[in-house]
Formats: sequence, structure tokens, C-alpha cells
Amino acid sequence: MSVLVDRHDAVAVVTIDRQEALNALNVETLTELRDRLHELADDESARAVVLTGAGERAFVAGADIKYMAGLGPDEAKEWGGLGHEAARLLEEMPKPTIAAINGFALGGGCELALGCDLRYASSNARLGQPEIDLGIVPGWGGTQRLARVCGLGVAKELILTGRPVDAEEALRIGLVNAIADPVLEHALGVAGKLAGKSPGALRVAKGLLNLSPGALELEAEEFGDLFASEDAKEGLAAFAEKRPPRFLGR
Ligand code: CAA
Repeated sequence: MSVLVDRHDAVAVVTIDRQEALNALNVETLTELRDRLHELADDESARAVVLTGAGERAFVAGADIKYMAGLGPDEAKEWGGLGHEAARLLEEMPKPTIAAINGFALGGGCELALGCDLRYASSNARLGQPEIDLGIVPGWGGTQRLARVCGLGVAKELILTGRPVDAEEALRIGLVNAIADPVLEHALGVAGKLAGKSPGALRVAKGLLNLSPGALELEAEEFGDLFASEDAKEGLAAFAEKRPPRFLGR
């Protein structure tokens, strides 16, 4: 099991534990995460959910690039769909969700954090959407949610350049709500306060704040289509081979 759920009174803490890959998500881990989030969405005894990564280094370093390197467009669409499902559960479950970002939150990791209602970062956190350097694009909601959270100008800069930001910059651009060490303790404190509020009022407030979520379906489609390109094959293979990619434009 690589996704653990602990209870702290009415708060559920979901920990992604695949530390040998900096908690990058493969099919097994992402499926487990989706299933645990489904259960928590329906569980009235869980009044708030905190998502974090195991260890000191990473929240989630993204989707598993080595797995993605072997995918064709149809499989990539299915894979994108699974990530979308997990992010949508975080965004839409009728209770507050909080990301405790304890290190790298890159690609799909940043996108899961963006699915959460609140984001807190440790001072060593690094967040970003580096997919462009793999010859692909964010595929779990980043093109829509990053723009919604930080504004279109910031989202374009971060997604087109792939540049990661540190915790200070993430706070300045509104990508995280606060920096705190230890971040899990801080997130638990906020979650505990939220767990004491009216669940019905929280559900309605969250639903209203979430109106007009953007073009998520289109993103899922385009993400998959890019896997037909030679550039995506090259970008994804270059990561595993620990060399810079050579993009040829096809
Ligand atoms: N997928 C698969 N394996 C990963 C990974 C990922 N996303 N991130 C890290 N790992 C693995 C590394 O391959 C390495 O494994 P080995 O020891 O077997 O080589 C191990 O985790 C430790 O990583 P590094 O040795 O690279 O650690 P570092 O400290 O030198 O660098 C890092 C850390 C900057 C986060 C670097 O690992 C990195 O750049 N990772 C990839 C980040 C990334 O591009 N994420 C986006 C993925 S695409 C995506 O998520 C698409 C989407 O929208 C759904």
C-alpha cells in the first residue's frame, strides 16, 4: 500500500508514500489515491481532508515519467483521466481539502495540490509545471486551475517556461496560502478548525466558489493527443536517460 489514511479526530490525513521515486504517481499509487479519496468523499465522519507526501523531500514529484514514456495517445488519455478524477475529487468533495506541500510538488503533484481548497508549503517546497520540458503539457487540470488560482499571466509564464518556484515565490503569486514548518502540523491545525464549522455551510460555500471550473475535458483530450508526437517520446525518454531532450518539432 502506498497511500495511507490516518485519522486525527474528524480530520483524515492522506499520505502518498512512494519515496524511492519522490512520491511520483504510477498507476497503482494513483488508483489507490483515487479510491481513498472516493471513500473519504462519502464518509461523513471525515469533516476535512489533508493530503501530503511521505518523507522530507517531496509532496509528489509528478506523474511517473518512466511509466508515461511507454504510452500511446489512447493510454495517455486514460492515464490523464485517472489523474483528473483524483484532482476533481479533491476539488469537488463536499468538505474542505488541504494540501500540506512538504517538498517537490511538480507536474501532477502541483495539479493535485491545485485541486485542493487550501495549500500550505514547507519552506523547502518547490512547485511547478515542468511538463513542457518533457514535450507534453499539464494533464491533470493544471492549465485550468493554475490560471484560476494565480491568474492567466502567471499560469502562462510557469506552464510555457516550465520554471519551478520556491515557497517564497509560491506565496507571492498566490499559489500557496502560507509557508509553515512543520507544514503538516499547520495544515492539521487549520483542518481541525474547519472540522468544527457547519458541514452544510462549508459544502455550499465550496460549491459556489467552484463554479465555472474551465475547460478540463479539453485539457484531458489534448494531453493524450500529444503522446503521438516524437517530441513527447523524446522528452519523456530523456528524463530516464538523464540527458537533455532534443526536440525536433514533430
Ligand atoms: N517520475 C518517475 N520517477 C521520478 C520522478 C517522476 N516524476 N521524479 C523523480 N523520480 C525518481 C528519479 O528518477 C530518481 O530515481 P532513480 O534513483 O531510480 O534514478 C528518484 O526519483 C530520485 O530523483 P532524482 O535523483 O532525480 O532526485 P534529484 O534531487 O536529483 O531531483 C527532481 C529531484 C528535481 C524532482 C527530479 O527528480 C525531477 O526533475 N523529477 C521530475 C519532475 C517532473 O518533471 N514532474 C512532472 C512529471 S510530468 C506530469 O506530472 C504530467 C502531468 O501533468 C500528469
